[in-house]
Amino acid sequence: MAKFTTFCWALLLAVSCLINVEAIDKVTRSGRYLYTSSGRFYIKGVAYQEQGAVIPGADNSFLEPSTFIDPLSDSDGCSRDLPFLQKLGVNTIRVYSVNSSLNHDSCMSTFSGAGIYTIIDLALPLNGSIDRDSPSWSTNLLDQYLETIHTFNKYDNVLAYNVGNEAIISNTTDVAPFLKAAARDIKAYLNSISSSALVGYAAIDGDSTFRVPVANFLSCDPSNSNSSSTSIDLYGLNNYEWCGDSSFEAAYAGVEGDYAGYNVAAYFSEFGCITSPPRLWTEVGSLFSSQMSDVWSGGIAFSYFPAESAQGQFGMVNISSDGKTVTTGDDFSRLEAQYGNVTSPPNTPSQGSSPASYPSCPGQNSSFAASTTLPPTPNEAACDCIESTFGCVFKPPTSNYSSIVGSLIDTACGLLGQAGSSCDDIGGNGTTGVYGRLSGCDPTIKLSFTMNEWYQINGMQPESCSFAGNGSVDPLGASGTASAFAAETSCVASPSATFTPTLPSGLATASSGSGSSGSSDSGSNGAVPVLGEGQVLLGMMSVALIGVASGIWTLT
Ligand SMILES: *[C@@H]1O[C@H](CO)[C@@H](O)[C@H](O)[C@H]1NC(C)=O
Ligand SMILES: *[C@@H]1O[C@H](CO)[C@@H](O)[C@H](O)[C@H]1NC(C)=O
Ligand SMILES: *[C@@H]1O[C@H](CO)[C@@H](O)[C@H](O)[C@H]1NC(C)=O
Ligand SMILES: *[C@@H]1O[C@H](CO)[C@@H](O)[C@H](O)[C@H]1NC(C)=O
Ligand SMILES: *[C@@H]1O[C@H](CO)[C@@H](O)[C@H](O)[C@H]1NC(C)=O
Ligand SMILES: *[C@@H]1O[C@H](CO)[C@@H](O)[C@H](O)[C@H]1NC(C)=O
Ligand SMILES: *[C@@H]1O[C@H](CO)[C@@H](O)[C@H](O)[C@H]1NC(C)=O
Ligand SMILES: *[C@@H]1O[C@H](CO)[C@@H](O)[C@H](O)[C@H]1NC(C)=O
Ligand SMILES: *[C@@H]1O[C@H](CO)[C@@H](O)[C@H](O)[C@H]1NC(C)=O
Ligand SMILES: *[C@@H]1O[C@H](CO)[C@@H](O)[C@H](O)[C@H]1NC(C)=O
Repeated sequence: MAKFTTFCWALLLAVSCLINVEAIDKVTRSGRYLYTSSGRFYIKGVAYQEQGAVIPGADNSFLEPSTFIDPLSDSDGCSRDLPFLQKLGVNTIRVYSVNSSLNHDSCMSTFSGAGIYTIIDLALPLNGSIDRDSPSWSTNLLDQYLETIHTFNKYDNVLAYNVGNEAIISNTTDVAPFLKAAARDIKAYLNSISSSALVGYAAIDGDSTFRVPVANFLSCDPSNSNSSSTSIDLYGLNNYEWCGDSSFEAAYAGVEGDYAGYNVAAYFSEFGCITSPPRLWTEVGSLFSSQMSDVWSGGIAFSYFPAESAQGQFGMVNISSDGKTVTTGDDFSRLEAQYGNVTSPPNTPSQGSSPASYPSCPGQNSSFAASTTLPPTPNEAACDCIESTFGCVFKPPTSNYSSIVGSLIDTACGLLGQAGSSCDDIGGNGTTGVYGRLSGCDPTIKLSFTMNEWYQINGMQPESCSFAGNGSVDPLGASGTASAFAAETSCVASPSATFTPTLPSGLATASSGSGSSGSSDSGSNGAVPVLGEGQVLLGMMSVALIGVASGIWTLT
């Protein structure tokens, strides 16, 4: 009898468990706010990524990591951390870099089951991000972004994908059109696979004269027709202005005013100043109150894992060297108390009462240089077609070629410049809105183009294609002939075209996730925050400063 009872209870529990398993509620954006079925949604989050290797140097003034550890592929780590994330009371984690070829099933279902959403940055360190010093929106980056989305589309708890983090700083606002093009193409792709994930960008703090137009630019409609097609859905501001026991008036009144009329959802993609210890996290009370809720939908505390910065040490826990034990610090307990106190943030306005609007774009001036003419959608077929006409091509001496491509392009462009030619075809200028016909191509194709130009200028002498062993004559390429030029031209029927991108061919037939409804689809790093310009100390996972092209050449 006892046995039977136990069995019944076990069965009943199992059944009730099954019945009680509910899918995580979908978060949608309506105008400038986020909603679930139960009302307004606030991101109560924490950054969740162990810091990668930071190699300091003149080319890495923000101390951005050059390697990363994908936290969502570490199933033991996720199970280890789940109880702590739950104790902290978070509903979202932000992850800066993931490896699309690894398996994320365990972590994603662990977090989904606990009601925890993810905000996933699509950029990777080094050549995996839009380089603020030499920007391009090109096939290799598009493919990387699509591969990550393809990998994560099967999960129900991806809240947003970020197309960049801190790529635009005060003197690189000309990078903004490349980010906006990325948002446009990623949004089109998400629509094509019926994904409801939001498209985000995480901005560096700093002077409002560039910060505010950048925000408005990323959510504006260049065609002046109230179209959402090039707008981000979710603007993140990495904000460290509340230090110690500050106040809304002292720390946040400025940003509240700056974004008072903003048209899409906004949140603090990082917060948690460390300059006036102890961190009390009293900003939480302000951020989740009616003082801020008209503009902001919560934020991401930085950071769960330790992260070293020039400013000092971020982090709320330590992990034992065997990876098994979590030790929480006082920051953890204080944030837990503050998050625990956020019981009913304002639930207004109601969904639907705040319609979306996409205003015209901010104009250019001395503090904001972005053109409203965006780069075209990177076109792999056109790039491959042009490449097939080259008589001299880059033949990487090693599969680890990313570190030499930039310097070789600089060398080749320098030679072309001296010979009266130029690299205009591979360049793009976000201030003038002029993009070369190969500007959206993979850097290796850009390099092959420059090598081939030099080879042609030198009458196709084989030694002119050497580039110290990095170039190789391609007897199948026919460049230099009139027919080759015609072929090149015919490769790009409409150089400024935008279209819905599709997965790279290798993945097109791979099984796509259950969350992906489309069939045609086919389907940054360690962490350390940049604190805002003027007080920039270091970058968590912003864009790589080591670009594929170091940019010593300029367009003529
Ligand atoms: C992703 O993981 C695979 C398998 O471990 C590895 O070969 C590859 O280099 C990783 N990619 C990145 C970008 O780290
Ligand atoms: C922008 O400013 C940074 C310093 O904040 C400097 O290192 C960088 O070279 C500048 N970039 C340009 C394009 O002027
Ligand atoms: C440039 O325009 C923005 C508004 O888009 C404004 O905030 C900023 O102050 C202007 N900069 C200058 C130097 O006038
Ligand atoms: C983690 O360990 C370091 C070194 O012992 C220590 O300085 C730091 O306070 C610890 N952090 C936490 C959150 O306990
Ligand atoms: C929690 O909120 C209440 C009411 O707003 C406030 O009195 C209390 O001080 C808060 N607790 C913490 C830890 O901030
Ligand atoms: C933009 O379009 C939305 C719906 O598509 C509409 O509700 C809103 O009023 C429009 N805004 C403007 C300024 O036309
Ligand atoms: C970065 O460079 C490596 C080779 O060093 C290459 O395998 C990888 O595809 C590149 N990533 C992108 C996005 O270009
Ligand atoms: C790739 O090459 C660079 C520069 O030559 C080197 O520093 C780096 O360690 C190499 N990476 C790998 C994975 O071999
Ligand atoms: C883009 O063009 C403008 C205007 O000609 C020029 O001042 C600027 O230096 C160019 N930018 C780059 C990155 O070449
Ligand atoms: C290729 O180019 C790099 C960078 O300019 C140079 O260091 C290297 O010697 C060249 N040749 C080979 C075979 O790697």
